[in-house]
Amino acid sequence: MDEQTATKLLHYAEAARAQAYVPYSHFAVGAAVLTTEGKIFSGCNIENAAYSATVCAERTALFKAVSEGEHHFSGLAVIADSKDPVVPCGVCRQVLAAWLSPQTPVLLANTSGLLRWTTMEALLPMAFTTIG
Ligand code: THU
Repeated sequence: MDEQTATKLLHYAEAARAQAYVPYSHFAVGAAVLTTEGKIFSGCNIENAAYSATVCAERTALFKAVSEGEHHFSGLAVIADSKDPVVPCGVCRQVLAAWLSPQTPVLLANTSGLLRWTTMEALLPMAFTTIG
């Protein structure tokens, strides 16, 4: 992913973060996925009084894209007000691995400007993606 695209993807993630509904944790997260055709879908975390019904920013962004017919992705960015660049939870890693190939670049960020590049493979090695 070129630098200009990465910056744009991160800006979309940052903008989505402003919509986070986080009355319980007060930990707002934004994410954005890039399709292979260059479209961007963003999302935020949306919490629920029944905590386990909460959806993370990464899944919101991905599900928005898939529900609009997008099946091919070439990047992901995630941002939060964390000490280190925020990392996706285990559930999100599993869901993302179904749609983003192992080599897909992932940009993790915090609101202080710290960035960390990784890949889906590094986030979830030996991912379970097919049945049988
Ligand atoms: N969360 C995300 O949205 N993405 C992450 O990468 C980590 C965790 C959310 C879930 C919950 O709303 C809050 O952050 C605290 O765990």
